[in-house]
Amino acid sequence: MRTPIDDLFEFLRFPSVSTEPAHQRDVAACADWLVRKFHSMGLAAETHATPGHPIVVARSAAQPGKRTVLIYGHYDVQPVDPVAEWTHPPFEPVVVDGRIFARGSTDNKGQILAHILGVEATLQESGELPVNVIFVVEGEEEIGSNNLEPFLKAHSAELVCDAVAISDTGMIAPGYPTFTYGLRGITALEVRVKGPATDLHSGNFGGAVANPATALARLVATLHDADGRVAVEGFYDDVALPADWELEAWKKLPVQDADFLALTGAPELFGEAGFSTLERLWSRPTVEVNGIGGGFQGEGSKTVIPREAFVKLTCRLVPHQDPEKIESLVRRHLESHAPRGVKVVVEGGHYAQPFLVDPLTPFGMAAQRALHRTFGEIPAMIREGGSIPITRVFTEVLNAPVLMLGLADPDCRAHAPDENLPVANFENGIRLNQLLLEELAK
Ligand code: BES
Ligand code: MN
Repeated sequence: MRTPIDDLFEFLRFPSVSTEPAHQRDVAACADWLVRKFHSMGLAAETHATPGHPIVVARSAAQPGKRTVLIYGHYDVQPVDPVAEWTHPPFEPVVVDGRIFARGSTDNKGQILAHILGVEATLQESGELPVNVIFVVEGEEEIGSNNLEPFLKAHSAELVCDAVAISDTGMIAPGYPTFTYGLRGITALEVRVKGPATDLHSGNFGGAVANPATALARLVATLHDADGRVAVEGFYDDVALPADWELEAWKKLPVQDADFLALTGAPELFGEAGFSTLERLWSRPTVEVNGIGGGFQGEGSKTVIPREAFVKLTCRLVPHQDPEKIESLVRRHLESHAPRGVKVVVEGGHYAQPFLVDPLTPFGMAAQRALHRTFGEIPAMIREGGSIPITRVFTEVLNAPVLMLGLADPDCRAHAPDENLPVANFENGIRLNQLLLEELAK
């Protein structure tokens, strides 16, 4: 007998890393696997080619008069780098101590597959679904979903729905039902600091020209003050403070600074002064260095002045910051703080709007009842620090409320080595989908 874990392991074995051109075929093969899975359940399904990776769309047999729920997820994954730090190879899933380890286990293959298998289970148990279901599973979430927005706009008539359900967020504590009503947005930038035409002997030329790595370090250091506040002029201008009810509710959540210390393994917590950890994570914007480099990276010593140094930056954004406005503010800051003797080139990357919904709409309440019935507790209501670029577009283009019911464990290690998903979360996710569709039909 095939089990849900068998399906998940097959899904996880595709190295569907969207950002790496070398994996383009793996990404496409993963999309084809999904289409076969949907067909095996009796759903109509196909891939839609895009200028990037394909979008998989599947739908249940139309039942006129019933509501329609669109379930969104992504089958692409983040790179596995640094691969040497994984306990098991990232694309050879294993279960250890009740957790499934593999890249994509939590983010997002395990979570979207739980929805798919929930639909399969309901079809097997009762022969029909309480609502019509449309699945949209894309392969570019981890690189900004640039091709999904035009797709949704072009196909909005076929994607009309009453609500959008997404499981691509976290649980506030292990196994604790969690409803997410807000996400941060994002602006990604890449900065190159260019110096000499070629790498130079640092003895022959050191002292004669500016070192791009030194210049980059000086430049990056201008982005924050010593207390962690972003020093880019105008950066905080449009930031909306959270509502009083949120600040009150966040204080009562089952998570403490000690939990963040344990989860991160950092020597201490740090960030913008004057705000609690949850406030900083959910309602304050940041500028983060995601990668920095230049010069000799190998073992030992090599006396060289690198020709170029780079930094990859992302800003996490909150209501009502605008990603493109933030990009131009940061760009202006970087250009006007360019150290002497080098050229600073700033390239824009991808954007996501911050997202905030009213959690108390009728469909929001239905989702919370489904969480309560699945996990046996009143769900925690949270915002999240991560981004799901397409959420705002769902509300704008399809005019449907977005319901985020996360299955990620706090220690899921998304984007990091040893990403994992508790088997219980996967199994509960299947049940959650069944109850969600039932509640949304009421
Ligand atoms: N599942 C995450 C989003 C997320 C992370 C939600 C943590 C809640 C908590 C999603 O797959 C993701 O990682 N998105 C990227 C988007 C970006 C690359 C545009 C992110 O947030 O870094
Ligand atoms: Mn992710």
